[in-house]
This record gives sequence, structure tokens and C-alpha cells, in this order.
Amino acid sequence: MRNILEYDSVELSPNGRDVIILDQSLLPNQEKFLHLTTAEQVFYAITLLKVRGAPAIGIAGAFGLAMCMNRFRAKNLQAFDKEFLRVKRYLYISRPTAVSLMVTLDRMERCYYQAEEEAKDKSDFETIRFIRERLTAEARAIKLEDIQKCLAIAEAGFSLLKPGMGILTYCNAGHLAVSRYGTALSPIYYAQQKGYMPKVYSCETRPMLQGSRLTAYELTKAGIDVTLICDNMAADVMSRGKIDIVFFGCDRIAANGDVANKVGSSMLAILAKHFGIPCYSIGPSNTIDYNTPTGKDIKIEERASFEVTDMYFDKPVAPKGIKVYNPAFDVTPAELLTGIITEKGIISPKKLGTIKE
Ligand code: MRU
Repeated sequence: MRNILEYDSVELSPNGRDVIILDQSLLPNQEKFLHLTTAEQVFYAITLLKVRGAPAIGIAGAFGLAMCMNRFRAKNLQAFDKEFLRVKRYLYISRPTAVSLMVTLDRMERCYYQAEEEAKDKSDFETIRFIRERLTAEARAIKLEDIQKCLAIAEAGFSLLKPGMGILTYCNAGHLAVSRYGTALSPIYYAQQKGYMPKVYSCETRPMLQGSRLTAYELTKAGIDVTLICDNMAADVMSRGKIDIVFFGCDRIAANGDVANKVGSSMLAILAKHFGIPCYSIGPSNTIDYNTPTGKDIKIEERASFEVTDMYFDKPVAPKGIKVYNPAFDVTPAELLTGIITEKGIISPKKLGTIKE
């Protein structure tokens, strides 16, 4: 069996003209790589969760923008500028909750104008070529930085682990959801390398089953001991003393330390508090959004009822026409978290405001 860490879920082709993703909507049954060559393909790959997980969405957005500009046949610089803003604004709204998409697209825009300024004495043709090179390099740098952050997160999270610990996780904040290694799962990969033999419990994560389809898949491929549970079994495994620590990811952290992550994460935090189990949200520091004061201010994506009633089942599992409420994320209040782990270390959620600089 191929080790999952040998390939990446999001890549830019060497010539910068294709975004290559592993289609996560088909896992674990099929490993199919898609070559995306238009803004629309990138947009739908993100909205349909073919590429998903906050950092991976951000990287896909940056790669998508670079790819589109590498392919765009511009008559002049003005047309190139216009197309850049069109694609950027279009990709910006492909998913609303994970802040990394906005962070990376805004960074690409700063890169664009910086390059344009630096090339102001060149011809339109030369300027466009220069901007393309800069955008492509910036998008690749975003991914490389994410890899470095995941490695630093792995070390920070590992400091909390002991050999043989039971770790409960939710959704997929692993290798598939980032550039490489994962956020919430990277300390687990690291612990495995160190011979700690962690015992992971993965909630299946209804309705899109990122826990069973993706986390169970990638940890199994990496040879890590993983047990799948339905989401409503979390209290049971905790009550039986099988869980020593809870690790989940984050899509956006508000300035007050409230964390938006896959819907159901807050349920684990509430249970962990009840059973006296430490609970950490893990992600890169650019997930902290100081422009969002509290969790109540985070825009929560609502998704189609089909995902609850039909998807991944042979036949519908609810009466036709049933009313469905399907938020993709929920907010874990800061006070329920033991800590937030980023590449800069571990911090109490309540102290976030004090470390802004
Ligand atoms: O809807 P998804 O699958 O994109 O949701 C993903 C999560 O909630 C992850 O836990 C989060 O993005 C962190 S990924 C490192």
C-alpha cells in the first residue's frame, strides 16, 4: 500500500498551467487526480469538496489564480488586470467559513500589485510575463510555507503526547486537508515516527463523512492504529477511558478564541469538558482572524439537504421533501478549549488577544 505522505492532495504543474488535485469526494474507493484548467473547475472543486480542508482550499485558491493568469490570453495589461480581479473575486466566494482562502487570495492580490509596480517601466507584454512569474512563485511559496507550518505544529502537538495515548479526532485535518502532514493529525504522524504508537479514534463526521472516508483512510495508509466510531459514540469511548486527548482542526479562529470547525466539533469539546479530557484546536496561525471579534461573527456555510438525506447512501435515508438543517461548521466557545496549537506553539484561547503582534 502506497504511503499517503508520498503524494500531495493539491499541486501546481511544473509549467504552472494545471492545478492538480486528488479528488477527495471519491475517497476511499477511488484515487483519482484531476487536472483543473479553468476558474470554474477550481471553484466547483472547492464548493463540491473535491479539494477541502481550510489550508488546502487556500492553496488551491492561490494555485487556481496563478493557473488562470498563466493561461489567460491578454490583449493588454488592462485586460490582464481586469481578469485577475474577476477570478480573484470569483474564487473568494467559493466557500465562506475557512479564512485561509481569503488570506491567500488577498496575499496573491498584494503580490500582483507589487509586481505591477516593479515592472512599471516595462512594456505590457513584459509586465504580464513578470506578473505571471511572480504569481506562480507566490502560490508555490504559500504551499511551501504551509508545509513548514505543519511540521512546526507537529512538534508543538507532540509535546502533549505520551506513548500509547488515545486520541479522538473529528473530520479530517490531516495530510489531505493541507499541503502535507496535516494540522490536527501532524502530531500523530510525528508520534508514530517516534515509536509512540498512538491509538486514534476517528468520528465518522456526518454528513460528508470526512472522518471515515478521509481520516480513517489516510491514517490506515500510514500504518497508524485507527478505530472508526459514529459521531454519537464519542461520549461512550470517553466514558470508558479510551480517550486521553481530543485534537481537531479549525477553519477560523475569532479574536476572542472562539473556533469554527466542522459541525460537531463543539460537541466533542463539551463532552471533553464533562469527562475532564484536554481538548485542543489545531491550525496555522493565519487561521486567527482578528477582524472577527467573536464566534458569533463567523459566517457559517450552510449546505444542500441532499448531503444529509442521500449522499453516500444507495437509497434516500429520509422521507422525500423533509426539512433539513445542514450547517457545515459550528463554533466551539473559547472556554471549552484547553488550548490552541499553531506553528508558533500552544496558547490558551483566552490569551489570543495579547499575542496579536
Ligand atoms: O468541510 P471541510 O471538509 O472543508 O471541513 C474541514 C474542517 O472542518 C477541518 O477540520 C478544518 O478545515 C481544518 S483542515 C486542516
